[in-house]
Amino acid sequence: MCGIVGYIGQKKAHPILINGLSNLEYRGYDSAGISILENNDIKLIKTKGRVKTLFEKTENENLNGTIGIAHTRWATHGKPSDENSHPHLDNSKTFAVVHNGIIENYSELRNMLIEKGYKFLSQTDTEVIPNLIHFYYSKGNDFIHSVSLAIKDLKGSFALSILCKDEANKIIVTRKDSPLVIGKGKDEFFISSDTPAYLDKTKEFYFLDDLDMAVIQQDDIKFYNSNLKNIKKDIKLIDWSADSAQKNGYEDFMLKEIYEQPNSIKATISSTLSKDKVQIEGLELSKEYLKNINKIFIVACGTAMHAGLATKKIFESICKIQTEVDLASEFRYRDPLIDEKTLCLYISQSGETADTIAALKLAKEKNCKTIAISNVIGSSITREADFSIYTHAGPEIAVASTKAYTAQVTLLSILAIYFAETLEINNPDIKILKKDILDLPNKVDEVLQVNDDIKELSKKIYKEKDVFFIGRGIDYPASLEGSLKLKEISYIHSDAYASGELKHGPIALIEDGISVVSIITDEKLIEKSISNIQEVITRGAKTIIVTNQNLPANNFYKIVNIPSTNPYISPILSVIPLQLLAYYISKEKGLDVDKPRNLAKSVTVE
Ligand code: F6R
Repeated sequence: MCGIVGYIGQKKAHPILINGLSNLEYRGYDSAGISILENNDIKLIKTKGRVKTLFEKTENENLNGTIGIAHTRWATHGKPSDENSHPHLDNSKTFAVVHNGIIENYSELRNMLIEKGYKFLSQTDTEVIPNLIHFYYSKGNDFIHSVSLAIKDLKGSFALSILCKDEANKIIVTRKDSPLVIGKGKDEFFISSDTPAYLDKTKEFYFLDDLDMAVIQQDDIKFYNSNLKNIKKDIKLIDWSADSAQKNGYEDFMLKEIYEQPNSIKATISSTLSKDKVQIEGLELSKEYLKNINKIFIVACGTAMHAGLATKKIFESICKIQTEVDLASEFRYRDPLIDEKTLCLYISQSGETADTIAALKLAKEKNCKTIAISNVIGSSITREADFSIYTHAGPEIAVASTKAYTAQVTLLSILAIYFAETLEINNPDIKILKKDILDLPNKVDEVLQVNDDIKELSKKIYKEKDVFFIGRGIDYPASLEGSLKLKEISYIHSDAYASGELKHGPIALIEDGISVVSIITDEKLIEKSISNIQEVITRGAKTIIVTNQNLPANNFYKIVNIPSTNPYISPILSVIPLQLLAYYISKEKGLDVDKPRNLAKSVTVE
């Protein structure tokens, strides 16, 4: 949430910052702003609206400086407006700050500063930061000491990029619980919330740990810990291509990412699974340890949590380990029963989701082992967990997650096989599952052929007010994911239910013409599922069936056939028509598919 960028080098900063912001717009898009250091003066331009509006406002402003910072906002404190946009300056206009995160004690700090005579021009929590830095600066501290003292007073989360007009040859950055990376070029540095902002400029990135600071000059970078002691940082190579963060001819990132799924699944498989034993880089668990586990918790938010639900059954049936799936935001506050014999898996595409990171820290306090499953090398969650394993989905830019979900389900299924093999479980299903996972990329290619059919279907139902998704067993988590996709990008109200639950309440909502999407991939559950579908048809529902089974002829509104696969991994295939349905309905409604209202890609606030 919120994207920050910075540049220091020999080139004009303005176009580089605008370009970086455009690449980061998935993190927030209600306002944007830029500060450029020029002739020992800070130029500031900011506006409500998108990065495009900022570009239009700045293109003729003769911004020639080679040092600058910029921001794209997802509002938390203070509605989207010009004043609330970042950067924020202190009263003396000595410091400019861009911030991602939330300062929880801002009102206390604001009152303290008001008492000292500071004035506030916005309703944001951020504005206390430049003024607090100035407060320490006015007491005779230099730039770095002032920043270091100010951040000691802050409670909450922050990634900060800061300019000082009196020390106009540097940018200082720091972070706590919000992401920040520094890309290294030749005599230039690129600061950003996420690596995709500058993949076209560099593949070499530094990652900061909590409360680390970096003082960045054109040809030099120095790192400090919170006590201002010099520390060393290694460069990490990010092997995503610059192209992978571009639309490459597709109208939207979401459609591109849906179509990338055969490759992202293939890359995830080939990094771990072969016909021999599963090997997952970065993971080493002994048979002894796995034998003594009392429970697995899979903890995540949103779509990533749905990936956990979709794979719970594999861990329980194949590994015979009790597995619970939890929402990170709930797990943290419900005092879960965990001890050193519990294994906690945390799934996060971005690796920056605040609730998931906090839930991981909780497990660490209770001394249980933690595994992070992320798509982003070096992300916060991977630096906190005991082990980190990666989906190889490439950058996911559209706010609605698609290829990350299918890569997560793939990797979790492979992880379950890893556990089973380490435990030396002798079950013929494991060999079959391995073979079926290896076949997945071809099957995903096949499912994508439903594209035109789904596009036609969306033209018929895009005006709906409510859509229900139902499924039994493994098809229930896939229904949850289909329903989430539809509501987040089409703004159609949608809910998902386990089919058997309908008659315990939700069926009261079914009336003439309501669309009900039903997934049926488990042969053993066909009869029961068909009975539930009949119950809604009788009450006037239009039924859309996604299935890989031969269903008895019936009066369905539409059948979408998908290839059959191993029931354990069917959510990887059944979700794809639902991703496409959400996409095309959103397009029919003329909405911005990649940037749905009120949402941001990386939820770094709790
Ligand atoms: C929905 C979606 C979100 C994310 C959730 C967790 O399409 O993308 O529900 O899945 O915010 O994000 P990560 O996986 O980055 O922790």
